[in-house]
Amino acid sequence: MNHPLVGIVMGSTSDWDIMKNAAQQLKDFGVAYDARALSAHRTPDLLFEWVDQMVSSGVQCFIAGAGGAAHLAGVVAAKTVLPVLAVPIPSKHLGGLDSLLSMVQMPKGIPVATFAIGDGGSANAGLFAISLLALQDKSLAQKLLAFRDKQTAAVKAATLPSL
Ligand code: RP5
Repeated sequence: MNHPLVGIVMGSTSDWDIMKNAAQQLKDFGVAYDARALSAHRTPDLLFEWVDQMVSSGVQCFIAGAGGAAHLAGVVAAKTVLPVLAVPIPSKHLGGLDSLLSMVQMPKGIPVATFAIGDGGSANAGLFAISLLALQDKSLAQKLLAFRDKQTAAVKAATLPSL
C-alpha cells in the first residue's frame, strides 16, 4: 500500500461520522490517508508520536476534527509546519460553535485553516487537501477539474419540482 499523503485525526471515535466525509473524498480521488482517533488532552503522547511518524513517512498535510474546546488542530499545528486543516465537530450543547471558535481563533504564529462545522466542512477539508496535493500532481489536478465539471453538469441538469 502507498504511504499516506494525508493524516486524518479526530479527538474521539464519536467524531468519525463527520470525519468520514473527508476520508471519503480522499478515497474517491485515490489519495492514501491514515485516519486515527487520538486526543490532544486524553492521549497527548500518542498524538505527538503519531504526528512525528506521519511527518517522517512523508505525509503532506493533516486534517484534524474535534468538538467542544477543540484544541486538537492547534496542537497538531504546534508540532509540524505542514498545513493543518481543521474541522469543527457539532457539539452537544453549543452545536459546534465552541469547536469552530476554538479552531478559527488560533493565536498568531501557529495557523490552522478552519472549515465549516460538520459534514460539509469535513468533505471540503478533504477536497482542499486534494487541491494542495494537486499543486504537485497533474493527474490529481485533472481529476479535480473533472469533479468540478460533473458537479456543474448536475446543477445544469437539475429541475425544480412543479407546484
Ligand atoms: C472531543 O470531545 C472529541 O473531539 C469529541 O468531539 C468530543 C466528545 O468526545 P466523546 O465523549 O464522544 O469521546 O474531545
